[in-house]
Amino acid sequence: MCGIVGYIGQKSIESVLIVGLKKLEYRGYDSAGIAIVDRGELIVDKAKGKISELEEEIKGRSFQGQLGIGHTRWATHGEPSKLNAHPHINQDRNIAVVQNGIIENFLELKEELKNEGYVFTSETDTEIIAHLITNFTKQGFSPEQSFLRTLHRLDGKFAIAVIFENVPNKIFFARNGAPLIVGSGELQNGEPIENFLASDLPAIVPLARTAYYVKDGEWGYINHSKVELFNWEGESLTLEFQKVDLKVEEIEKGDYPHFMLKEIYEQPDIIENMLKKRILPEGKIRFDEMEFSREYLSKLGRILIQACGTSLNAGLIGKLYLEMFAKIYTDADFSSEFRYRNPVAEGDTLVIGISQSGETADTLAGLHEAKAKFLKVLSFLNNPNSTLSRESDAIIHLLAGHEIGVASTKAYTSEVLHLFLFSLYVGGLKWILPKDQREELVADLLTVPEKMRKILNNVEPIQKVANYLKDVSDTVFLGRTFNYATALEGALKLKEISYIHASGYAGGEFKHGPIALIDEGVPVVIITPRGEIREKMISNLQEVKARKGVIISVITKGDAEIKGLSDFSIEIPDIGEELSPLLTVVPLQLLAYYTALYRGCDVDKPRNLAKSVTVE
Ligand code: M6R
Repeated sequence: MCGIVGYIGQKSIESVLIVGLKKLEYRGYDSAGIAIVDRGELIVDKAKGKISELEEEIKGRSFQGQLGIGHTRWATHGEPSKLNAHPHINQDRNIAVVQNGIIENFLELKEELKNEGYVFTSETDTEIIAHLITNFTKQGFSPEQSFLRTLHRLDGKFAIAVIFENVPNKIFFARNGAPLIVGSGELQNGEPIENFLASDLPAIVPLARTAYYVKDGEWGYINHSKVELFNWEGESLTLEFQKVDLKVEEIEKGDYPHFMLKEIYEQPDIIENMLKKRILPEGKIRFDEMEFSREYLSKLGRILIQACGTSLNAGLIGKLYLEMFAKIYTDADFSSEFRYRNPVAEGDTLVIGISQSGETADTLAGLHEAKAKFLKVLSFLNNPNSTLSRESDAIIHLLAGHEIGVASTKAYTSEVLHLFLFSLYVGGLKWILPKDQREELVADLLTVPEKMRKILNNVEPIQKVANYLKDVSDTVFLGRTFNYATALEGALKLKEISYIHASGYAGGEFKHGPIALIDEGVPVVIITPRGEIREKMISNLQEVKARKGVIISVITKGDAEIKGLSDFSIEIPDIGEELSPLLTVVPLQLLAYYTALYRGCDVDKPRNLAKSVTVE
């Protein structure tokens, strides 16, 4: 949570920081601030709210500094306010700090510092860092030593950047559990003349040519031409930069009004490209990057999937795929529960983590729990440079491209698709899945991109439903088997961006309680494409109708019977039931999008949320 940028170089300092922060706004947007050393003086500007408020705050001012840090916040300690916004400074106003993460022992340190006479102006954990550094400098330690000694006092998971008024050529940084990147930009006579810090690559694209992903337990500083890196013991480390290959178009909205809409519309092309990469012309499935042997995978006894939010919804479908096609007993659980419930697991159990960002604190903790039980971890990840990618035993890349919209869309379909392919792959290795069945499934899968395009080219029925939904306050989503997770995901999308209460249930469970919610004011979205469970879903539909609930059905094109029973229907092209979740979710993503839009909500920056949740 929260986004950090830092810059040292000759470009307009405030522009580099503000542009960078805007690219990181998806990480938090309740307040923002910058600190710049300008003509020998530390200047700090902050604003409550989005980066645009900060821009307003500094409008018309001209900064002449060559180094600065910036921060966009998602509140953990202390309410969103200008006082709690970063950067935080010391009493002498000559040290500024930005932090992403949580300092767990901050209360204890705060008490200690207060007893020494330090006065706090915010409720944040970050402010203690400024005072701790000051305390060490006052004892005669150099800025480097003071910074390192401060790091030694901190418990928790964090990324930090610090500047000193009287050290006008260094930005200090450290990482312990939250992402941080060092970027190197323009060259003069073959030598770098500017360097960057950022929580995520988009903040420094297209300015940075190369990047280094700082590892946990590393700290250092950047100046105009170089980067010095050390470990927690203060020993010097070497670092290798890698080329930045993220294109600007990938992180811009283009002609779309919102990232979410762009990402929804990217899905058919992404899946088409993925299928080209994953399926050989003769129909064989490949996962070149995954380092587990065929022998190991064919002998798996059990799989535990752990993930959060949308990624767990994909995992619930993955469970069905793995049990159906690979005949492996599979569980899927919230990472936040998995990490504390001491799951029973034998040596032949594989833990699968699923994550778009690869930085979700709970999912990472789930991985640590698995490692503590000596279990192997396979992670399905969209961010190839994430912490989860470094810590997993093997990885499957989701290949969905950078996802910026806080509401996850294209990562979800990529997760479902990869779990499907992985199940077929393992089923094949175990000689459980007959070749002709696999070929049929793959043939059906190849039709998905075109069918998604058909849905995306016919949004009118979806907009009509959204126009109705915008005025309701409660909704229920129902689905079964493969589309139970679609019900959860459709409900999650709607509530997170439109703030309409939405609950997803398994159709069969409806009569065991949730049905009590239904009256003429509570619409029910029933996901019932062609397949085995269709008849059962009709019973749900009748139950709702009998109680005067409004029925919105997601059906296979041409299903006149269900259409006739529904108040609104959204059609998807015909597809096998196993693959239907890849299609049924698309209208629900659009439904959430348009409902939020019609309600005047900020689709890409829903209140209280942040794209990756890097705190527990
Ligand atoms: O990056 P991850 O996939 O690990 O994130 C997990 C959840 O935080 C995420 O899916 C969240 O639920 C989204 N806001 C859903 O749209």
